[in-house]
Amino acid sequence: MAAPGASKPRVFSGIQPSGGLHLGNYLGAIRNWVRDQDKYDNIFCIVDLHAMTLPYDPSVLQERILDLAATYLAAGISEQHAAIFVQSHIPAHSELAWVLECYTPMGWLERMVAFKEKAGRQSHERVGSGLLVYPVLQAADILLYDTNLVPVGEDQRQHIELTRDIGQRINQRFGPIFTMPDALIQKAGARIMGLDNPETKMSKSLAIKAPGHAIFMLDSPDTIRKKFARAQTDAEPAVRFPAGAGVANLLEIYRTICGKEWAEVEQEFAGKPYSVLKGRVADAVIEALAPIQERYRAIRSDDPALMRRLRSAADRLSPTANATLARVQRAVGLR
Ligand code: TYM
Repeated sequence: MAAPGASKPRVFSGIQPSGGLHLGNYLGAIRNWVRDQDKYDNIFCIVDLHAMTLPYDPSVLQERILDLAATYLAAGISEQHAAIFVQSHIPAHSELAWVLECYTPMGWLERMVAFKEKAGRQSHERVGSGLLVYPVLQAADILLYDTNLVPVGEDQRQHIELTRDIGQRINQRFGPIFTMPDALIQKAGARIMGLDNPETKMSKSLAIKAPGHAIFMLDSPDTIRKKFARAQTDAEPAVRFPAGAGVANLLEIYRTICGKEWAEVEQEFAGKPYSVLKGRVADAVIEALAPIQERYRAIRSDDPALMRRLRSAADRLSPTANATLARVQRAVGLR
C-alpha cells in the first residue's frame, strides 16, 4: 500500500474479448478489481490482439469489445479510479512485444501450460504462432505502464512470472528500464472449475462446446438455476467433508460470492442434500449478477458513446506507453 500522499501502486489487468464472460472471470478477476479499485491507480485493458490467437469470427470482434467494455463498467469499475481501453488502440503494445520476442528464448514459451493446453487441442499445422508468443504480448501490456500489481486468477500466475523473467533479462542487459510487477491472486475464487467437469478450469473455449460447463455473467436466472441443478457432484446423498471436487467447487463459488470462510460454509451445508446447496449457490449468483445485468443493458444502449470513452482513455494512456517504448528502443539501438 502506498504511504499517504504518495502515488498509489499501479494495477494493470486485462481480459480477452473472446466470448461471454463466465463466473471464473468474474470471481477470479473483475470482482476483485472493483472491490479494491480505490486503493490503486488502475488500468483495465480489453485485449483484442490476444483474442486473435485462437480461431475467431472477425465480424463479431467489435461487438465483443463493446460487450466487454460494458461488462467492466456494469460490474462497477469507475472511470474515476481506472482507465478502460482497447489494446489495439495503442500500437506500442505490438511494437514492444516484437522487441521482447527477440529477447525471449523459445524454450520459455514452449513451457507455458496455457500454450500446451490450447495448442494440444488442435493439430500443430493449424495453430497460429500467435498462440506461442501470446505471453510476450501480455508481458508488453504489463511492462509498458510501470505496473506494480497484476490482479488475475490462478491460471495466469505463470504468465506473470514469465513477464518478470523477460523484464529482468532486459534490465540485466540494459539497466533499469522496467518496473517488476507482482501477481495479485486472491485466496478465494482464483480457480473456479467447470460445472460439468470439476477437474477442468471453467473456460470460455470449453463453454462453447458444452453449454452446461459455465455460468455466463449475462445468463438469465432460469438458466443459472438449471445449470447449477445439473452441475456434477458425486455419489454421496448429501454434503460431507472432505467434499469431492464438484461439491467443493460449488462451495467455493458460494463462499467467494458471500465472502464467507470455509468453516462457516462447512457448518452451513454439512449433511444437507445437494439440492439445498445448489439452490443456495444459484440464489447467491443470481443476486450478485442481477444489478450488473441491468446496468449492462443501459450502457449497451449507446455504443458510439461507449467507443468514444474507450478511445479517449487510449489517448490519455498513450504518452505513458510511448515513453516506455522509447526507453526500450533507445536501449536496443532502434533510436
Ligand atoms: P482471460 O481472458 O482468459 O481471463 C481473464 C481473467 O479471468 C481469470 N480467470 C479465472 N479465474 C478464476 N477461475 C477461472 N476458471 C478463470 N478463468 C479465467 C484469469 O485468470 C484472468 O485474470 N492472458 C490473459 C489476458 C491478458 C492479461 C494481460 C491479464 C492479456 N494481457 C495483462 C493481465 C495482464 C487471459 O487470457 O485472460
